[in-house]
Amino acid sequence: MARQPGSTTEDDITNEVVARFAATPDPRLRQIMLSLIRHLHAFVKEVELTEAEWFSAIEILTRAGHLSDDKRQEFILFSDTLGVSMVVDLINHRKPDGATESTVFGPFHRLNAPEMPYGGNIAHLDKTGTPALIAGRVLDLDGRPIVGALLDVWQAQTSGLYDSQDPNLAAMHMRGKFRSDAEGRYLVRTVRPVHYPIPSDGPVGAMLRATGRHPWRPAHIHFVVSAEGYEPVTTHIFDSADEYLASDAVFAVKQSLICDFERHEAAEGAALRLGIAPPYYTARFDFCLKPASGAATVLDAQQRLAALGAG
Ligand code: BEZ
Ligand code: FE
Repeated sequence: MARQPGSTTEDDITNEVVARFAATPDPRLRQIMLSLIRHLHAFVKEVELTEAEWFSAIEILTRAGHLSDDKRQEFILFSDTLGVSMVVDLINHRKPDGATESTVFGPFHRLNAPEMPYGGNIAHLDKTGTPALIAGRVLDLDGRPIVGALLDVWQAQTSGLYDSQDPNLAAMHMRGKFRSDAEGRYLVRTVRPVHYPIPSDGPVGAMLRATGRHPWRPAHIHFVVSAEGYEPVTTHIFDSADEYLASDAVFAVKQSLICDFERHEAAEGAALRLGIAPPYYTARFDFCLKPASGAATVLDAQQRLAALGAG
């Protein structure tokens, strides 16, 4: 029933807005819109939002929009630092089925990283980091090797910045695409990752400072691992020695993704073959993929953004 003009209460408004969306033809969109309105209105009523606070929220969102482009995504940063990205991740990857666990995509992936050979060096321009070799296999749930899996790898350089954050860095520095070999093995040459702060010169940084939070992410390397017939996994490996593992600014650490970086003082094995002078580190991590379910991935979403000229 339509509300009586002139008799508006706070609850009348909520009910009327819900009613206006109630005929949304797509059932999933209807469910999302009705829940969003109920929760949003309940939040505003619970905190008794002032007009000044409401306007401040509009300004913050406007600034986030102005700051976001193909190199900077302030809305993803908000989602990550509010823990929403990890809730979405956990809801969508619930089963402890033996496959490698996923974690946040983050705002710094770029399409079209260069293809690299087995043992290719993504960090050849990084002169200050300590060399590191990341090795392992891509396996199915039965432990059989997956041949020709694609590993899309990206990492911040030792300065703590991604190429897209630093105009002095060559585009695609610290990025590469690798293929697993006939035994499912991969080998990535890089530098030991460092912890770094997420961008804090925008509204997300202001929120962290105002709430007494730090902006640091523990040292990690990003991977999207995919193969025909398997569900891709978007994940990181984290350095087990990092001091921010328990307080990641974006809540993305999962125990199974923590990995030891072993220090070597003498060249041996792959390091010797690749001519890497000690000291250097090695880390081992096997990726395990489950059969494809047809679910959309964050990369699908990024391809859509790119098609709109924003990726
Ligand atoms: C990153 O690891 O690249 C990242 C993830 C979430 C927010 C900011 C940065
Ligand atoms: Fe990162």
